[in-house]
Amino acid sequence: MSWTPVPEPEPEREWWNDAPPPEDAPPSEDAPPEDRPPGDAPTGDAPLEADYVPSESNYVPSEPFASNTGDLSSNPALLTSTRPSQFPSDTDGRETLHRVFGFEEFRGDQGAIVEHVIAGGDAVVLMPTGGGKSLCYQIPSLVRPGTGIVVSPLIALMQDQVDALTAVGVRAAFLNSTQDAATRSAVERDYLAGNLDLLYVAPERLSSEATKSFLSRGRIALFAIDEAHCVSQWGHDFRPDYLTLSELADRWPDVPRIALTATATEATHIEITERLRLDRARHFVSDFDRPNIQYRIVPKADVRGQLLRFITGEHAGDAGIVYALSRNTVERTAEYLTANGLNALPYHAGLDAGTRARTQSRFLREDGVIVVATIAFGMGIDKPDVRFVAHIDLPKSVEGYYQETGRAGRDGMPSTAWLAYGLGDVVQQRRMIDESPGDLAHRRRQSAHLDAMLALCETVHCRRIDLLGYFGQSSGPCGNCDTCLVPPESWDGTVPAQKFLSTIVRLQRERGQKFGAGQLIDILRGKQTPRTEQHRHDTIATWGIGADLSESQWRGVVRQMLAQGLLRSEGEYGTLAITDASGQVLGGERTVTLRRDPERVRVAKSSRTAPTGTAGEELSAAAGELFDRLRAWRSETARAAGVPAYIVFGDATLRQLATARPSAMTDLDGITGIGAKKKESYGQAILEVLSSAT
Ligand SMILES: Nc1ncnc2c1ncn2[C@@H]1O[C@H](COP(=O)(O)OP(=O)(O)OP(=O)(O)O)[C@@H](O)[C@H]1O
Ligand SMILES: [Mg+2]
Ligand SMILES: [Zn+2]
Repeated sequence: MSWTPVPEPEPEREWWNDAPPPEDAPPSEDAPPEDRPPGDAPTGDAPLEADYVPSESNYVPSEPFASNTGDLSSNPALLTSTRPSQFPSDTDGRETLHRVFGFEEFRGDQGAIVEHVIAGGDAVVLMPTGGGKSLCYQIPSLVRPGTGIVVSPLIALMQDQVDALTAVGVRAAFLNSTQDAATRSAVERDYLAGNLDLLYVAPERLSSEATKSFLSRGRIALFAIDEAHCVSQWGHDFRPDYLTLSELADRWPDVPRIALTATATEATHIEITERLRLDRARHFVSDFDRPNIQYRIVPKADVRGQLLRFITGEHAGDAGIVYALSRNTVERTAEYLTANGLNALPYHAGLDAGTRARTQSRFLREDGVIVVATIAFGMGIDKPDVRFVAHIDLPKSVEGYYQETGRAGRDGMPSTAWLAYGLGDVVQQRRMIDESPGDLAHRRRQSAHLDAMLALCETVHCRRIDLLGYFGQSSGPCGNCDTCLVPPESWDGTVPAQKFLSTIVRLQRERGQKFGAGQLIDILRGKQTPRTEQHRHDTIATWGIGADLSESQWRGVVRQMLAQGLLRSEGEYGTLAITDASGQVLGGERTVTLRRDPERVRVAKSSRTAPTGTAGEELSAAAGELFDRLRAWRSETARAAGVPAYIVFGDATLRQLATARPSAMTDLDGITGIGAKKKESYGQAILEVLSSAT
């Protein structure tokens, strides 16, 4: 046979690997955050056969191929033998949803999107994290003739995605630099022979001419461009290779393209449409609300202690993600939680690839693992039972924050998004923007992102109204955020604001000095310290005139003034200066309304937020016991197959089994998440578990 493999393009990098990360800063809580950890130097991935010229004659279609996906999966137990496609192309989307995925109904726009793409239309899909974007291209790929090509920057997750599809009987594979040449060739042959329903590739691979001419020799059902916001140059995940994806339109004008993202601002939406040349696409903008997630934002005090109390008080034993900005904070927080008896692991770009992969794998496979991470962690991970997402540093944008919090509660069960933020966050982030290398327009943009985030933190209204409003969606008070549950009071902070501003002005005018918040608060509270003595600050006219407020109240005032643009922090030390707007406050032309920081936020647990114990809340005692048995069976099965438990079955399926107690194979048809393949693989075993319990 004259088969020659397609030469390797430049090796892909992990999605975050476009910019070298800043070096880790000195060990302080103020260490500059990282956002793009380094990828791993590709190994064993040298270009193959450099003199290879792709040509039609290299491929002999009649050649029979042995096992088609056998060496692709870490999970041979779930693979069945070579067979013709079990998904005839004349089935419609709904039927595929039932038979393959075992789901009863499409969610939201899924049905309309699937129908549109099956019919050959282009689509732009904006759907929240965990909303169910994957089915929007997976089902059309199964129904349309040929292979669905999925562009995804998430190389580390391709294996899990393929495993999950294989488990439901879909013929899926990926091509990336983690594979050896032989495996890649096998995948390429499978594609050309028409033996694949879905093929995942990284964007840099697809941008190479060799890959494109290889693909043009097979039959393409559609192109799915996942995480499409990576095409946005000003967005937080920009990937240059996404820009080349516009060429797909020229090369394959008749192949439908579907771009999907969980980033929903109007600006990103327009950018995706233009840059990917999706001018004829239909646009599907979903409801972005995730009602099962409770949003809470608390003022930072002893942040690690607050975090520990939050987790142990409300989410003991639950899986969760804690986000911090710097590696150093990540490490120390993970240590602290571990020392306090929690199962917490650090994850950041400074860790080697093996450690990161193990951590991700434990998070996916074991129950109740907490990952403390930089934002390098979590994109595209489909772990359904993450019960909380905590931020212990202020996120840089509302988009990023909403995407990160959206990783909680993908299964629809009650979950919490908890954020602690304080004055230091504001000062630090302003400084980082000032020092950032980009041009002025870039810095302005970052500032605008930060302002929106601060406005969300300081709002006295429903958080969800603000969040959804940011994405252009209007809504009413949600009843499931901290400001709805415990409405914050506001107070007139004009006089304290004037006192504070006046202190800044006097120090500057009378002494040519600038200070940060700490010293200014000490002056106002008349606090004798070595520093106030050294500078003889007790002779300033405002000395001691603010003793009526506690230090933490003052910090709340300053934080909110910064957020409202009544103060500006400058330079490395975060010294404070007045702004144009503060002139109006000093002149008495503008009042300052502030939010009263609760002394200690304690949100009453509504029924929506009741902790979900192992058996979940509404299960009866008997069903709870069955659920536990099913979970034990699932762990064993998943371990034997080497896949995450949720790839076997999600909690929702087990709960329904525990309540419905089916006793025959036919009874399994109505259970969510049980399609034809899973029924065949696990049906008998489930029935045995259920019957042995009676
Ligand atoms: N119609 C449906 N019925 C039941 N479950 C569904 C349905 N559609 C999707 N799901 C489940 O919802 C979960 C999230 O889906 P998916 O991974 O596609 O989310 P996503 O929109 O791609 O999110 P992200 O932005 O994080 O990538 C999956 O576990 C999936 O099985
Ligand atoms: Mg996804
Ligand atoms: Zn609300």
